Amino acid sequence: MDELEHETPHRPAQSRRSLVPAFVIAAIATAGGIVLGLVIPWFPPAADTQAKSIDTLYYVLIIVTVPVFVLVETVVLFAVVKFRMRPGEEMLDGPPIHGNTRLEIIWTAAPSAIIAALVVYAAVVLRHIEHQPAGEIQVQVYAQQFAWSFAYPPAAPGAKAIVSSDLYLVKDRPVRFRVHSSDVLHGFWIPAFRLQIDAVPGTTQSFRATPKRMGDYDIVCTELCGLGHSVMRSTAHVVTPAAYTAFLASRGAASALPAAAGPGALAAMGKRVFTSTGGCGACHTLADAQTTGSIGPDLNKYLKGKSEAFIRTSIVNPNAYVEKGFGANIMPANFGTTLSKDELGAVVKYLANVTAK
Ligand code: CUA
Repeated sequence: MDELEHETPHRPAQSRRSLVPAFVIAAIATAGGIVLGLVIPWFPPAADTQAKSIDTLYYVLIIVTVPVFVLVETVVLFAVVKFRMRPGEEMLDGPPIHGNTRLEIIWTAAPSAIIAALVVYAAVVLRHIEHQPAGEIQVQVYAQQFAWSFAYPPAAPGAKAIVSSDLYLVKDRPVRFRVHSSDVLHGFWIPAFRLQIDAVPGTTQSFRATPKRMGDYDIVCTELCGLGHSVMRSTAHVVTPAAYTAFLASRGAASALPAAAGPGALAAMGKRVFTSTGGCGACHTLADAQTTGSIGPDLNKYLKGKSEAFIRTSIVNPNAYVEKGFGANIMPANFGTTLSKDELGAVVKYLANVTAK
């Protein structure tokens, strides 16, 4: 009893040689991890001039961090196996050691140096991709539960800004996105551009991109923003200058109906607002528009026999009547301002007609 109080028996210290297999395994795992990290196609094809330096940064991070990760994991696993408690050792203490000043200096200084170098490198890349190019245009990005809208510089001073639910950009024309949110946190992400920034209520965030490849690219919300988060998507179209001008002109014209427009033109506009401009089909099922969204009420069922006044109020003030089984504050509350007067009238008329029977 006396003996136990003064000195606990120890296991014998391990020899240094027993570490060699761990380092051999770590070296092999590191090489494999780096090769894997460089071979896996992490990203879609790059579509802007910023992507190249961001991809390089990513690959450098893989090359630097994989060895650190593998080294730490290998040492941990090795220690677990090698120094596990064996039968009969329950009462033994570990071998008496007194730390190792040289080791401690190394494992403090080496990670600090690596992190400092990566921070400087990342700052250089950020400065490079944020450099303001000549001829830049500004596009306003508006996030709301659960839709994106984009406003382009007006064609002439004083003219009304053109707004769309899909994003149109010109190849090789630099753009600065000014990102706003009207309700909660959203994330504006274009994977093909490698750029993402949060949309934060009450402030404006921005990033720059120069599209360099024609095509259609996904826009994804990257902040869990509510029930419709997973459908909060849009498309970025990178087009020629002529196609962009045509788009602006058609959006300008599409939002107003000529005075002599007949019921056919009105119905066509209403359907277009539902399926495209307003993006209503992402959340609502409507047989006539062949949409199957289920975030909001099935309109075939809930609008049946409802008046145009009821439909109009439900669009501009979605919380006025909330159907049983559906939550308030889910439908965007700003269609009254993002849709033109004609567009709103057309979609109300369209919905009243197609759900009448
Ligand atoms: Cu908006 Cu997730």
